[in-house]
Parts: sequence; C-alpha cells; structure tokens
Amino acid sequence: MGLFKRWILCFLAFKFFVPKPVSSSPEALAQIPVDFLDLSKKPEIADYMIGIRRKIHENPELGFEEFQTSKLIRDELDHLGIHYKHPVAITGVVGYVGTGGPPFVAIRADMDALPLEEAVEWEHKSKVPGKMHACGHDAHVAMLLGAAKMLQEHRHELQGTVVLIFQPAEEGQGGAKRMLDAGVLKDVDAIFGIHVSTLYPIGTVASRAGPIMAASGFFDAVISGKGGHAAIPQHSIDPILAASNVIVSLQHLVSREADPLDSQVVTIAKFQGGGAFNVIPDSVTIGGTFRAFSKESFIKLKQRIEEVITKQASVQRCNATVIFNTDERPFYPVTVNNEELHDFFVNVASDMLGAQNIKEMQPVMGTEDFSFFAEAIPGYFFYVGMKNESQGPLALGHSPHYKLNEEALPYGAALHASLATSYLLKNQLEAKLLKGNLHDEL
Ligand SMILES: *[C@@H]1O[C@H](CO)[C@@H](O)[C@H](O)[C@H]1NC(C)=O
Ligand SMILES: *[C@@H]1O[C@H](CO)[C@@H](O)[C@H](O)[C@H]1NC(C)=O
Ligand SMILES: [Zn+2]
Ligand SMILES: [Zn+2]
Repeated sequence: MGLFKRWILCFLAFKFFVPKPVSSSPEALAQIPVDFLDLSKKPEIADYMIGIRRKIHENPELGFEEFQTSKLIRDELDHLGIHYKHPVAITGVVGYVGTGGPPFVAIRADMDALPLEEAVEWEHKSKVPGKMHACGHDAHVAMLLGAAKMLQEHRHELQGTVVLIFQPAEEGQGGAKRMLDAGVLKDVDAIFGIHVSTLYPIGTVASRAGPIMAASGFFDAVISGKGGHAAIPQHSIDPILAASNVIVSLQHLVSREADPLDSQVVTIAKFQGGGAFNVIPDSVTIGGTFRAFSKESFIKLKQRIEEVITKQASVQRCNATVIFNTDERPFYPVTVNNEELHDFFVNVASDMLGAQNIKEMQPVMGTEDFSFFAEAIPGYFFYVGMKNESQGPLALGHSPHYKLNEEALPYGAALHASLATSYLLKNQLEAKLLKGNLHDEL
C-alpha cells in the first residue's frame, strides 16, 4: 500500500471509530484491529465463544450431518438479530451483517468433525462414540460467531456487508464446493478463512502469498486376477503380486517423472485382498491419494496413475480398473492466496499483533476445500497460533489426543472482524478515489 493511500485510509478509519471530530491521526486505522482484540478478550465475547466451542465439541457431527451444529449457529444468529440463509448445501448457513448492500466481504468457518474416538479425558469430552472435533472446526465456528457478535455491535459503522459463511464437510467431501455452487459468493469481492494451528505460538499468525496448500485427489483401483490354491500358483493369476508391483511402480511417478522442485505426493494408504494363508484371492483393492502444487502437475499425475496401474497390472496378466469417486470426494484445487490480500492481511495483522508475530510459512501438502472459494474470487487463508510453551507441545490435528487451546479464540474472532471491517473501509475508499470525489471529502 502506498503511503498516500495508507494515510487516506487512516483518515477514514479515524472517522469510522470516532465520527467526530474529524482528524487525520495516522494511528487511527491501526486502532481497528487493536480495538477488536481488546473487545474479543473481554468475557462478554471470550466466554461466549468458549461456551459455544465446548457445546459443539461435546456433540461432534460428520460432514453434511452437522444438523445440531447448524441449529446452534442459527439460534445464535437469531439471538443476535442477524439475518441468514438456510439450508445451503444441506447444513450450511450464510449470515449477513451490515448495510445489506454491496460491497460484500466474506469470512468463513467449517463445521464438521472427524470419525475418531476422543482420547482426551476432560469435562467437555465428545459425547458421541467414534466422533471428535480433532481439527479445531468447533473453534472455527465459535470464532466466527464471536466475530459476528462484535460486528453486529458495530453494524452501523460497516461500509457494506460482511457475509458469514458456515460451511459443512471440509474433511474430504468438499462442502465448500457445494456452497459455492449454491451461489453464496455471488457479488462477494473477497473471502478470508482461518485455521487454528498447533505449530505456531499463541498471539502469532502464519500464512504466505500464492500457493499455500496442495491440490488433492483420491483413487481406488481394483486389480483382478484369478484365485486358486496358494501351492499351485501356475493355475492362478496372482493379484497380490500384481498389486505389489503396481505400488512399487507408482513410486516412480514422483521420484523419476516429476520435477524435484515441483512438490508432489502419491501415497497408497489402502491394500485389501486375501484372507487366508493358502488361497490366492481373485482380486485386490488398493487406494490412496495424490497431491500436487499446480493444476498441470495434478492432471498429469492423475493420468499417469491410471496408466501405471492398468499397464503394470497387465504385465502380470491382471486387469485393473481405476476409480476416482469425485461425487463422494471431489478433487480439491490448490489453495492459492491472493497477493494483494496477503499485503492487506499483513498490514491488519501487524497492527493487531506486531510485525514480528506475522510468520511466513512454507507451503504444506495438506489440503483445504477453502481452495474452491479462493479459486472463484480473491481469497486468503491463514493460521492462528495456539501453542503455549509453558503448557508443553500440542498433539497435531486429526489425532485422538488433539487438544485445542481456547486462549486462541479471541485472536481468531478479532482477526475475522478486523479483516472484514478494514476491507470494506478500504474498498469504499478506493471507490471514492476512482470517482475522484475524495477531494470534496477531504
Ligand atoms: C481381463 O479382461 C479380459 C477382457 O474382458 C478378459 O478376457 C480376461 O479374462 C480378464 N482377465 C482377468 C485376469 O480378469
Ligand atoms: C500460557 O499458559 C500459561 C500457563 O497456563 C498462562 O498463564 C498464560 O497466560 C498463557 N499464555 C498465553 C499467551 O495465553
Ligand atoms: Zn482436518
Ligand atoms: Zn481443518
């Protein structure tokens, strides 16, 4: 952001929080994130979020089954007097705070839990056997509701509309895609998404410009031969051996065909076949995932996986079919952070936390269906730190020992609220600059 633009923003920002008297204090814009963090740390917001997070944590629901979670969100929005749409993509909820008109900026939370048995003993442990919030999506919902509460308190000062997106089924089923297809980002200029992180200290955030998470796909393959007696192999066509060679051959896609500087992964995570010591089975099913950091590499990898499986299986006289069940598990695109939004984010987050607490992270091979949103409009995804050195290391996400640090909730809520508010302000200002009537304003 140029100095002039920054100064102008400061000017308007000051008007935003303190309408009169008008002043051109350069500290004024920087004050928005500070004020929101102060507010979100107050019991009125912080305890509100902890209560919601614990309620959701006790009642985890899997993708597209978040009925109670969705109901809880709608009850809270009703209570706050926030207008919303429901159902969107089965359980999704879309709330609107502000003028109700353009410009629109979206902030997003995911709602689904994981099929895991919680191994942490505490007062608010999951009450549902085999289900657990082990990725922090319970906290994401709480943070977004916390932000909603603060934004609603300041709704008359918003220069447009903040769209609150509560989406289902992030963990593999692509709930974001369903929300997008339902038109939730129509007329929306930008979207921000948060994930809590066990790797970064509390009070810090981490992200980067450009690609941040990989594209991913899942596949199954059935390799069929001819079963028979394990002691008379010449009368069988052994699919176990064929599948083993397929798996070995698949390793060469990344090690021999991909550019070493273009990160890719092929992992076979599933191998099912046979059940006896002395029987060669008829068929074997293998399955796995593949990841890449560009659309081109991803498409090439998919094509080569199909070829290698079918051709390598045929070397051992087996037939193979490869299935990409994208209805159940859509391919996730690369998550790409918009460059301009990165600069904007760094400004807002630095004002709140100090520049030294904004960490530049390496891209990861994990995935996020936020990528569908960020593919459609400018998007920005970032991590909010939860690690507290004095409390020891935290188990990683998707572990049954996962423990969320609730002290991170105010940071997430304040970032959501600050990014949305400042974005609308910036947008309004740029429109004015374009129209050339800023002069009158000044
Ligand atoms: C493979 O498919 C061909 C053509 O359908 C069939 O003739 C053959 O028996 C199959 N082989 C095995 C091992 O299933
Ligand atoms: C970290 O944990 C300690 C001990 O529980 C606590 O006193 C402190 O406030 C925490 N730090 C932050 C930044 O939340
Ligand atoms: Zn997850
Ligand atoms: Zn997650």
